[in-house]
Amino acid sequence: MTVENRPEHVEDLIDLLAGQHMLIRDLFAEVQRASGDARDEAFARLVRLLAVHETAEEEVVHPLARRSIDGGEGVVEDRLHEEHQAKEALARLESMDRDSEDFAAAFAKLRAAVLAHAQYEEQYEFRYLRAQHGPDRLRTLAKQVRIAEKAAPTHPHPGVETAPENLAAGPVLAVFDRVKDAMRGALSRNG
Ligand SMILES: [Fe+2]
Ligand SMILES: [Fe+2]
Repeated sequence: MTVENRPEHVEDLIDLLAGQHMLIRDLFAEVQRASGDARDEAFARLVRLLAVHETAEEEVVHPLARRSIDGGEGVVEDRLHEEHQAKEALARLESMDRDSEDFAAAFAKLRAAVLAHAQYEEQYEFRYLRAQHGPDRLRTLAKQVRIAEKAAPTHPHPGVETAPENLAAGPVLAVFDRVKDAMRGALSRNG
């Protein structure tokens, strides 16, 4: 099938979140490769992406999985626990010297945990949600998450990831809190 006659692909919730898993993986690698200011800047982008992504999962995916997957309650509890641990680890990393050995070791540990977490989501939640919910529903949910992302105050905008923007984004836990407030508001207006 050529590009011309392929039916237009409309993003659904699973595409969106699985795509973000790839972006998260790339950003972890970028932080590890970078040093100095570039590492600070990549770390700030990672914090914002994780805040947006995990909040969308907490507000949209996990409640859906809890209700519609066999054994969903236990699966979601495990994922929430992992997300909580990752947020705490990010907050600890923030106060460390980002060019230190300690940072490198703790960051590598967090990377492995977050990538395993993403794999569990794809394996135990995403594929069941796609099997159980129609394409229209999953596309509508993707649209809602995109609207909610735009409402998130710390959403990374290309070209404005300058140092003052990062400072304005505030500490890790505050970023997560502000993203959650904004996304909840947007989701309730558009749900
Ligand atoms: Fe997650
Ligand atoms: Fe995820």
